[in-house]
Amino acid sequence: MAEITREAAVDTEGDPDQPHVHKERVKYSPEEEAKLERQHFWRVIDAFRYYKVHVQEQVKRAECQYRSLTQRHQLLLTGVLPNLTHISQCVDHNQDVLHAIVHNCIHMFENMEYGEEDDLKKQPPPSTFDMDKLKSTIKQFVRDWSEVGQAERDTCYLPIIREIQRLFPSDQYDVSKLRVLVPGAGLGRLAWEIARLGYMCQGNEWSFFMLFASNFVLNRCEQVNSLILYPWIHQFSNNKKSSDQTRSVSFPDIDPQSLPTTSDFSMVAGDFLEVYTEPDSWDCVATCFFIDTAHNVLDYLETIWKILKPGGVWINLGPLLYHFENMANELSIELSYEEIRSAIIKYGFHLEVERESMQTTYTENDRSMLRYVYDCVFFVARKPTELQQYAEEEEDDHACSSPPCAKSPRREGEGRLT
Ligand SMILES: C[S@@+](CC[C@H](N)C(=O)[O-])C[C@H]1O[C@@H](n2cnc3c(N)ncnc32)[C@H](O)[C@@H]1O
Repeated sequence: MAEITREAAVDTEGDPDQPHVHKERVKYSPEEEAKLERQHFWRVIDAFRYYKVHVQEQVKRAECQYRSLTQRHQLLLTGVLPNLTHISQCVDHNQDVLHAIVHNCIHMFENMEYGEEDDLKKQPPPSTFDMDKLKSTIKQFVRDWSEVGQAERDTCYLPIIREIQRLFPSDQYDVSKLRVLVPGAGLGRLAWEIARLGYMCQGNEWSFFMLFASNFVLNRCEQVNSLILYPWIHQFSNNKKSSDQTRSVSFPDIDPQSLPTTSDFSMVAGDFLEVYTEPDSWDCVATCFFIDTAHNVLDYLETIWKILKPGGVWINLGPLLYHFENMANELSIELSYEEIRSAIIKYGFHLEVERESMQTTYTENDRSMLRYVYDCVFFVARKPTELQQYAEEEEDDHACSSPPCAKSPRREGEGRLT
């Protein structure tokens, strides 16, 4: 079992339909925070249950459009209605899986209960924003827990895993004592793989969508490829064949319960910035497609610096698709990689590895006529051993606005993009 604990408020942000404003600008009392989180918990469950109604509306609309065609045109398109019927059946199936995911999830956390769903009656139907998050969560199963996602995982997770093994080889370290943190862990596969290699690994995640889904796959799925989802049925454009839209994906491609009994793997729910405040406590922080989820990426950088042990490493792979860009009422500092890189170095990290062009995909539909490629940056940044004192001074002096300067000589190649 992967123990999931809830250590800080879970995501209630980012929904344009909700009145939530960035925490730094609106302070809530602990009671208000708890109420907001509880409402959000039930709203996400509601989204899981509402899926079928939402997607069937889309299917009905497609059917109406078809029926609005002239008889002559309808006769040319004999496959459309059978395909829509098929899509409808796939939606029903997805809904069954989604019901299973949220079944009993009020007891998901070891240390937190969310009570009854009494407030739900007063809530409006789930927003399009929430339904989009749910559809993304379905696709996340492909990325993390299907054979189809293997190639994508190889480009995104393998470079990170290899780097961990290179920096902390098992013939030189007792890897079970090496603490690796994966913030923004999604459905948990990267963290799980690191734990499978014997490292102590913790995933952190703050979205209830992801947490419900990861809890399901990590704790309630055993048999390899025993379940299926239809991840692509929501995509009505860019299909070469109608059957591409309705193809299924099996999961899990590996038994999530098959971790060695000695492995130390856990998931912690809550905002990365709030949960991880203990200085000098991690040997490695591995971020994959995560740093652009920040309101201010420098806050992430600062936290990573603080929680890394002296000599610890930050491994990062991902693009800079800022999640809060263009979101009303949300702080969003959109920095270029050049600016982040410079801040990393000014902060005192040593950039030991840097690759600026790693081509990856994210929950890719490999048969779609539209496919995105991310040209990611990958780097390994070490918090130098001799800079421990700076981290402590920072701790004591929050008024200090400028980060510590690196004491150690700059490495060849720093200060320019390679
Ligand atoms: C783009 S996804 C990447 C997920 C996973 N790392 C992967 O590569 O598949 C970013 C993840 O970070 C999570 N996240 C965003 N802000 C977070 C925060 N402040 N604390 C913890 N997780 C966060 C999101 O919920 C989402 O699951």
